[in-house]
Amino acid sequence: MPESGTNLFEVSNRIAVVTGSSSGIGLALSQTLAKAGVKVVLVARRAELLEQEAIQIRQQGHTVDWVDADLLDRSELANACARIHKCFGAPDIVINAAGINLREPADEVSWTSWEQTINLNLSVPFFFSRLFVDAMKRAGWGRIINIASLQSYRAFPNGIAYGASKGGIVQLTRAMAQSWSSSGIMCNAIAPGFFKTALTAPVFDDPETSQKMAAMTTVGRNGTMDDLRGPLLFFASEASDYVTGQTLFVDGGFTAK
Ligand SMILES: NC(=O)c1ccc[n+]([C@@H]2O[C@H](COP(=O)([O-])OP(=O)(O)OC[C@H]3O[C@@H](n4cnc5c(N)ncnc54)[C@H](OP(=O)(O)O)[C@@H]3O)[C@@H](O)[C@H]2O)c1
Repeated sequence: MPESGTNLFEVSNRIAVVTGSSSGIGLALSQTLAKAGVKVVLVARRAELLEQEAIQIRQQGHTVDWVDADLLDRSELANACARIHKCFGAPDIVINAAGINLREPADEVSWTSWEQTINLNLSVPFFFSRLFVDAMKRAGWGRIINIASLQSYRAFPNGIAYGASKGGIVQLTRAMAQSWSSSGIMCNAIAPGFFKTALTAPVFDDPETSQKMAAMTTVGRNGTMDDLRGPLLFFASEASDYVTGQTLFVDGGFTAK
């Protein structure tokens, strides 16, 4: 823990890997970390987008690299580990932001779409994080940050597989803490409210729905990417040295109502 008077939220020179960082929340979290001096490895499927985003972050004077991988493909996931290590060495911060929401009515969900959702949103965060745990144990310090959801706690229409995966993330986060925090690895989750991304286009493309969601918060608006910076830097830094297994709702008070 830094001396009092020094920056508790210092993360510079850490190494982070962020899944789902070709767009949306994963990209915003990567940009925040890079600006704070973290060396960031972006991971997602779309190489062109990753390359473009990396160029932009580098132009701002920050350190970033990228690895393209379909994390639903088990051999690509395993191979990604070595490729990620080659960028800057072993990551000490892992952020699991890759996710999908297929928005299907319960009566129409197929085994295939159920498995795709549960695998990417719940199984991948576990198996991907575990690739980096040995190195974190050796360092005696690490951070795993999962991305949960309002649907970790609330049921929404057409969200049965997504909600089940995000409910699972809250318990996975506790179980990760139980397994690894004695080695200095703090495992927490951020549960965002409504943030404008490709995943929430059906909400934000309809002003009435978007306004309805904003009105469900106590603050009176939907989230902006800046709202995630404080919680991210808290969970990524030594400020959270004694906080683990927790899910922090960053939802403008949506779940308080
Ligand atoms: N937006 C919100 O309001 C909100 C609220 C609560 C929780 N969340 C959660 O936040 C996370 C990010 O979502 P978002 O809103 O930022 O949506 P998004 O912009 O659609 O981002 C999803 C990311 O996941 C990546 N991805 C999808 N399938 C993948 C695969 N098979 N392998 C590797 N990467 C894959 C996508 O990149 P590629 O297509 O390039 O692979 C993309 O970077 C998700 O876990 C979501 O559940 C979002």
